Amino acid sequence: MHSIAQYQEIVSTHFKSLSTPNEPKGLYDPITYILSLGGKRLRPVLTLMTTEIFDVDYNKAINAATAIEVFHNFSLIHDDIMDDAPLRRGKETVHEKWDLNTGILSGDAMLILAYQYFEEYEPIVFHQLAKLFSKTALEVCEGQQYDVDFETRDDVTIAEYLKMIEYKTAVLVGAAMKMGAIVAETSEENANLIYDFGINLGIAFQLQDDYLDAFGNPETFGKQIGGDIIENKKTYLYLKAMEFSTPENKEMLSHLFSVQPSDNSDKIASVKTIFDESGASATTQDAILNYTQKSFEILSKIDISEDKKKILRKFGEQLMNRNV
Ligand code: IPE
Ligand code: IPE
Ligand code: MG
Ligand code: MG
Ligand code: MG
Repeated sequence: MHSIAQYQEIVSTHFKSLSTPNEPKGLYDPITYILSLGGKRLRPVLTLMTTEIFDVDYNKAINAATAIEVFHNFSLIHDDIMDDAPLRRGKETVHEKWDLNTGILSGDAMLILAYQYFEEYEPIVFHQLAKLFSKTALEVCEGQQYDVDFETRDDVTIAEYLKMIEYKTAVLVGAAMKMGAIVAETSEENANLIYDFGINLGIAFQLQDDYLDAFGNPETFGKQIGGDIIENKKTYLYLKAMEFSTPENKEMLSHLFSVQPSDNSDKIASVKTIFDESGASATTQDAILNYTQKSFEILSKIDISEDKKKILRKFGEQLMNRNV
């Protein structure tokens, strides 16, 4: 077992040496671009960590970890098109730097490339990885569709929101970990528990992402602050603000989330004030903590040493305290 920092270094070095085809440049340059922008690399780190938690060398999991991260980056290219996002990891998004068609096709190619990394595994492990991957990828699409559908709905419930973020985000975190367990060929019970740990951590992670989208530091966050407000995303912040606000603020919030002004700065400022004053911001922070704690409760049931659990708990705590 290594430290979190060591796994991050292993993943970072691996991605620097990763080669993709060169030609045609219009297809592959955007892939090299998005992968070189880095990001936190949390999913591949989780895959490698999980394999070692179940006492197998991380090297065996490197292809599965790569597949997950390439898939994640594909989903970001398409997500940025869908969310009309100008910035990713502090740089121009692929569809801004190139164009829409480039974002679509380079994204498609990354999805295929991701699958190819599983071909390195022997049939039994390959089958399990591919099956989990297909199921997860389809769920991500479903989550993304709900996310878009909710933009124009005004009756989204907290339960619907939680299902949506479980699908668009948490299932990939769970799958990243379960793949580590599959590669390690641990028991099915362990693999399912680590998946549930990842699901709860992933829900906390997306709640935090929604919070940072409104309240993050523009210098460090790397994405357009207020992007979710501009796009009328029905986040936990919004839903709780609607639940807690005075009738006047409720009316105002609902109105603000039905318009798309050409200059969004006033809209963003007004919405953030309502998020804070209604208590929605504080409730979101509580929810992040609750889901993280829920993940730790699941962790306590897994049949691994206390030292190993400690590393996973530390990872969860670091995620909660992040600002990117
Ligand atoms: C962004 O994921 C998309 C979400 C699911 C919130 P990350 O925050 O992991 O993005 P990078 O890879 O670190 O840039
Ligand atoms: C992204 O959710 C989920 C996927 C990419 C599948 P967001 O739209 O909140 O992610 P960011 O904030 O753009 O990274
Ligand atoms: Mg987005
Ligand atoms: Mg999105
Ligand atoms: Mg977001």
